[in-house]
Amino acid sequence: LLASVAIVTLTAGGAFAQTVGFSQIGSESGWRAAETTVTRQQAEERGYDLRFSDAQQRQENQIAALRSFIAQDVDAILIAPVVATGWDAVLREAQEAEIPVVLLDRQVDSSDDLYLTAVGSDLVHEGAVAGEWLVTAVDGKECRVVELQGTTGSSPAIDRKTGFEQAIASHSNVSIVRSQTGDFTRSGGKTVMESFLQAEGGGANICAVYAHNDDMALGAIQAIREAGLKPGTDILVVSIDGVPDIFLALAAGEANATVELTPNMAGPAFDALKAFWDNGTVPPKFIQTESRLYTQKDNPQAEYEGRKGLGY
Ligand code: AHR
Repeated sequence: LLASVAIVTLTAGGAFAQTVGFSQIGSESGWRAAETTVTRQQAEERGYDLRFSDAQQRQENQIAALRSFIAQDVDAILIAPVVATGWDAVLREAQEAEIPVVLLDRQVDSSDDLYLTAVGSDLVHEGAVAGEWLVTAVDGKECRVVELQGTTGSSPAIDRKTGFEQAIASHSNVSIVRSQTGDFTRSGGKTVMESFLQAEGGGANICAVYAHNDDMALGAIQAIREAGLKPGTDILVVSIDGVPDIFLALAAGEANATVELTPNMAGPAFDALKAFWDNGTVPPKFIQTESRLYTQKDNPQAEYEGRKGLGY
């Protein structure tokens, strides 16, 4: 008899807690660590039982985690998909098990009827904002840009590249001369930037670095400094995320611009799930978070102070 009794979790108030499986990519960046912290906080505040799985950057680990969540019959699954392709089969398995799936911060190439909704920013727009900032900053002067791409095959790497290229397309003075992945990590950004500096006259031929995230930009800043140049002055630095350390770099004049990405994807995701659980409300397929540009003029020290305790 005991074996057939379902195990349920009770909240402090005695109600049944919803169980939510969360397949996180890993901890490649400060932003990613913050998203994990915020997701845990949001789940705790709502009394949900969050089952966390760290995929350590591997899609096969994420697929295995999803299958395990399905076997546990969770009430919903959150997933930040490391790459865009290869999800159809496992998403279909979740659908057949009637478990709603919400994508966080990255997109997939699968049909959108295989998941409930996706919470994230407009990744193409983020790249475009970065590119438009640079076009304005160089004001018609020739600018040879080196690009640090995110994880190959991930939607932010693909879309942030596209958006930036669109923004500079009609400005022949701005061109990307080198582009390589730094895998969204600080160490990757530093190593790739070192090779760019070496290949480009010690940095003399580089006007700007565009990094698909702040962590790679911070690694690049270190490489530029070690090459004897002034980041933010000799080489402009523009990136995406808005992590606390990039605001310190902006305040120090070593970074020039960042496009903020909120780490709170779980809040809107849980709101959508609650409405779905409570009365079957189907959310829109894309719940967009805001993107805002910050430069050295936007009181970066205060922005740093305001963010440093927020799970980063
Ligand atoms: O998917 C969002 C990106 O992934 C963030 O910009 C980056 O820092 C992270 O690792």
